[in-house]
Amino acid sequence: MASFYEFVFALSQILSNFATISNKNKELMIGKIKNLLAELETLKAKNHDELETLRVKYLSKKGEIASLMNDFRGAAVAEKKDLGMRLNELKEKAQEKINNLKESFDAGAESVEDMDLTRTAYPHTLGTRHPISLVKEEICSIFARLGFSIADGPEIEDDWHVFSSLNFAEDHPARDMQDTFFTMHGADTLLRTHTSSVQVRVMEHTKPPIRIICPGRVYRNEAISYRAHCFFHQVEALYVDKDVSFADLRQTLLFFAKELFGEDTKIRLRPSYFPFTEPSAEMDISCKLCGGKGCPFCKHTGWVEILGCGMVHPNVLENCGIDSTVYSGFALGMGIERIANLKYEVKDLRLFSENDIRFLRKFESAT
Ligand code: DAH
Repeated sequence: MASFYEFVFALSQILSNFATISNKNKELMIGKIKNLLAELETLKAKNHDELETLRVKYLSKKGEIASLMNDFRGAAVAEKKDLGMRLNELKEKAQEKINNLKESFDAGAESVEDMDLTRTAYPHTLGTRHPISLVKEEICSIFARLGFSIADGPEIEDDWHVFSSLNFAEDHPARDMQDTFFTMHGADTLLRTHTSSVQVRVMEHTKPPIRIICPGRVYRNEAISYRAHCFFHQVEALYVDKDVSFADLRQTLLFFAKELFGEDTKIRLRPSYFPFTEPSAEMDISCKLCGGKGCPFCKHTGWVEILGCGMVHPNVLENCGIDSTVYSGFALGMGIERIANLKYEVKDLRLFSENDIRFLRKFESAT
C-alpha cells in the first residue's frame, strides 16, 4: 500500500517539476519574442546585402524565428495556443518589415537607375494673374508713360493722414464708426478708407514737382453684397508743380481713358464735391457696351462713371507744408474693382476676393 502512495506522491512531484520547467520555458520564449519584436521596430538596412543578412537572421530555416518554432514544438499543450499566437505575430511582423525595406530600395532604384532622361517633361500648369492685379498694372503703366512713379503708404493709418489733413470737417460722416473701421487703440488709429492718405504722406516729405500714382487696398464698414465689400482697391494719382491747371487734369484723363478703354472712348466731367479738391469733378466715359447709345448697363444714359478728381485744395497743400501761392496740383482717384467690372463685366464684386479657381481661370488669356 505504502508503495502505491509513494508512487502517487512521486508522480505528483514529477508533474509539478515538469510544470515549473514548462513555465520557465514559456517565460523564456515570451521574453525572446518580445526582444525580437522590439528589434524589428528599429531595423535598418543600407543596401540589398544588409537586407539579405537581416532576412537570414530572422526568417531563414536556421534563423531566430525557426529556432523559436523548434522550442515551440516541445512546449506543453496548454501553452501552445498563447505561444503560437505570439510566434505568428512575430513572423508576420518580421516578414512585413523585410518587405517594406525591400520596397523602399526598389523605389529608390527606379528613380535613380531606371530614370529616362530623354522623356518629355510633365506639362506645367501656369497660374493666372488676378483680374485686380491685371487692371492695377495696366493703370500704373499708363501713368508711368506720363512720368508718374509709384508711391506706397500704410493701410493702418491715423486720423490726420486719412481725414484732417485732407480738409474733412470735424463732423464729416466718413469719420463715423458706421463708415470707418477704427482699431482697438482708439479714434486715432484706423484702416484707411481711401488711398488719398498716400498723397499726404508723399507731399509731407517731397518738394514739388511731385508726380505719383498710389495703388492700394482700402477698407470701409460696408455690409458685403454683390456690389459692395468691406475692402476693395483704389488707385490715386497726384501731380503738384508750378502752374498745374484743370486743363492738364482734363488732358491727362482723356489720355488715360483712351489708353485703357480704346481710342474711340469719350469722357465727360461733371461737377462734384470732395473736401480735398476744389473744384472737384467726376469723370464718366462713354459706355463700352452700347457705344454710347444707351443700354441697361449705363442705365440708358450712354455714360458710365469711373473716377473722382479735382484741383488739390489749397488747405491740403498748406497742411503738407507746400506753399499754395506758388504751387498747384491735381488729384484723381478710382476704384480698381469698378474698372475691372467695366473691362471684364463681372456682375458680382465678391468674386474678386473669393479666389474661386473657375473664375480666376477666365483671365488666363489676359495674362
Ligand atoms: N478719395 C476718393 C474716394 O475714396 C476718391 C478721389 C476723388 C480721390 C477725388 C481723389 C480725388 O484724389 O481728387 O472716393
